[in-house]
Amino acid sequence: MDSRSFAIESFTRRFGKAPAYIAVGPGRVNTLGEHVDYNDGFVLPAAIDRATWLAFSPSNDGQTTLLAADFNEEVIFTDAGIAGKFAIDGSPLAEWARYPAGMAWALNLDGHETPAMHGAFSSNIPRGSGLSSSASIEMVFSVAWSALGGWELPAIKRAVLGQKAENQYVGVSCGIMDQFACACGVEDRLLLLDCRSLEWQLLPIPEDIAIVIADTGVRRKLTTSGYNERRQACEDAVKILAEDLPGIKALRDVNVEDFNRLAHRLPGLVEKRARHVVEEIERSQRAIPLLQAGHIAEFGQIMNDCHRSLRDLYEVSVDELNIMSEIAQSLPGCMGARLTGAGFGGCTVNLVQMDAVDEFAAQLALGYESKAKRKAEIYICRASDGASIVSG
Ligand code: GLA
Repeated sequence: MDSRSFAIESFTRRFGKAPAYIAVGPGRVNTLGEHVDYNDGFVLPAAIDRATWLAFSPSNDGQTTLLAADFNEEVIFTDAGIAGKFAIDGSPLAEWARYPAGMAWALNLDGHETPAMHGAFSSNIPRGSGLSSSASIEMVFSVAWSALGGWELPAIKRAVLGQKAENQYVGVSCGIMDQFACACGVEDRLLLLDCRSLEWQLLPIPEDIAIVIADTGVRRKLTTSGYNERRQACEDAVKILAEDLPGIKALRDVNVEDFNRLAHRLPGLVEKRARHVVEEIERSQRAIPLLQAGHIAEFGQIMNDCHRSLRDLYEVSVDELNIMSEIAQSLPGCMGARLTGAGFGGCTVNLVQMDAVDEFAAQLALGYESKAKRKAEIYICRASDGASIVSG
């Protein structure tokens, strides 16, 4: 059964009637601009057609009862328990429940009501695969509470509040990219976000190009120290570089030329991390006009460069991601292939000529399985709209 039907069926079974509303919150894939959102850089993600579905109705008893249908677990909380992360019986909120509760917490702090609901949700975004299953939950609940509360907020503002929930409530120091893409996605378009000004625009995806996601099957947890260590290295680099470049606030403010001149001042590991970021921001700026002009082969080359940099400088790749990208890059019709998201496992993103895509997917799965001794999951996906109410 698909996730939408499963959410609806689980709701109906649990609450004894059909849900008043159905909402969808997509996952996301990033094509370029990796590990630059928390350095005020530019990112080029898209929302995808894998999503979290939420079936819900207002509840009249002041209690929010949520059923995570995929693991058949339930929590009940009230406004009073949200700040302390308590369920109604005083026990700590289950980890999965902290995403919806955190979203409510951030919305409340910003002055928006989150009326109690009955809800059941289900997702076909593999967890821990770098496709933003958690941001999809935050964003689907943000639109649900907007519907129940009778208020409206621009999608980018809901994204900012989702990031706040994840940073301060769940305790993961992510940047803005995931919530942005899950909130602001547009069908058949890439998104371009300036992570400093939060201005964004749409970029075309040529009609004859498919976005293919290849899952290595290796799972990661973003709360692990690797992500935070890299964020710290970027901050350390800014502090040291600011001695020569007064006024810089983030690595976004350092161009490649200045960086090369001053790189010797940085400790070895800090230099590698910062070099990835400075060059990745330069790469993404070079890539934007290429996409606008439909030069997808050149754009793909930049994606391949990005993978190398994530592998050798930022060191967030793993063998399986390298194997998957290398095989993909050697196959006919593949314009570019690289790891997507935070790394440390998860998926690659590939841009592939539409007429080669079936053969590409088959060969990639075969090649990966024989070399990595693991099963690959390949999704041919479509850029999709951001989180929304689809019925009700
Ligand atoms: C994770 C984070 C994002 C971003 C990426 C790396 O997905 O949630 O904010 O930093 O890693 O680009």
